[in-house]
Amino acid sequence: MRINKYISAAGLASRRKADELIINGNVKINGVTVTELGVDVEEDDVVEVNGRKIDKAERMVYIMLNKPVGYVTTSKDDKGRNIVTDLVTDVPERIFPVGRLDYNTSGLLLLTNDGELANKLTHPKSHIYKTYRATVQGIISNERLNKLRKGVDIGGFVTSPAKVKLIKQGERSAVVEISIYEGKNRQVRKMFAVVGNKVQSLERVAIGEVYLARLMAGHYRKLTPKEIDYLKNC
Ligand code: URA
Repeated sequence: MRINKYISAAGLASRRKADELIINGNVKINGVTVTELGVDVEEDDVVEVNGRKIDKAERMVYIMLNKPVGYVTTSKDDKGRNIVTDLVTDVPERIFPVGRLDYNTSGLLLLTNDGELANKLTHPKSHIYKTYRATVQGIISNERLNKLRKGVDIGGFVTSPAKVKLIKQGERSAVVEISIYEGKNRQVRKMFAVVGNKVQSLERVAIGEVYLARLMAGHYRKLTPKEIDYLKNC
């Protein structure tokens, strides 16, 4: 990340003011004064503004990624598979995924270094609905949709009431939107399996009122201040 962007993202100055600080020789990277606006800050660099270190812990970063199928949400993979954090290329902070998505699931994944928010969003007690769009095999009857709404036994665990909406019933498959606030392993896939419809593809489209919208697979963006505020207070 460019040094001027780094300083403004840390909340220390506007981008223009950050440029001035740099040009005026008030900024050091690893103890060396920099006056070039285009200098990049690497992950382990120590940045000082007017003699004060920018504490990385102060800089909270909130990213929304559209996770493609074929990526793991862990920080390492023994099988050498693709890792989601490799897709986020210009964030110097050490960010981690909030919760998990299966290797074969795509869609909205938040990444942050804000442990407190991450805990809140993944804790089932917070009751923050995560919405998935599932394409499932076969015909899905109203009876099955109602079973999903009420809760099903996915093997020693009965799921809490879910919000379920049939988006489209085709000849051989259906598209269903399902919102749940628990995060059991492969929960959505297991829920559909219990009612007799195998999931063909699964995409997370929202976390609470934060939506993936038109972000393309493999792309990412920063959350807006409004989205961050919403997630902290929901
Ligand atoms: N439920 C699943 O089955 N898989 C996911 O990745 C997320 C929720």
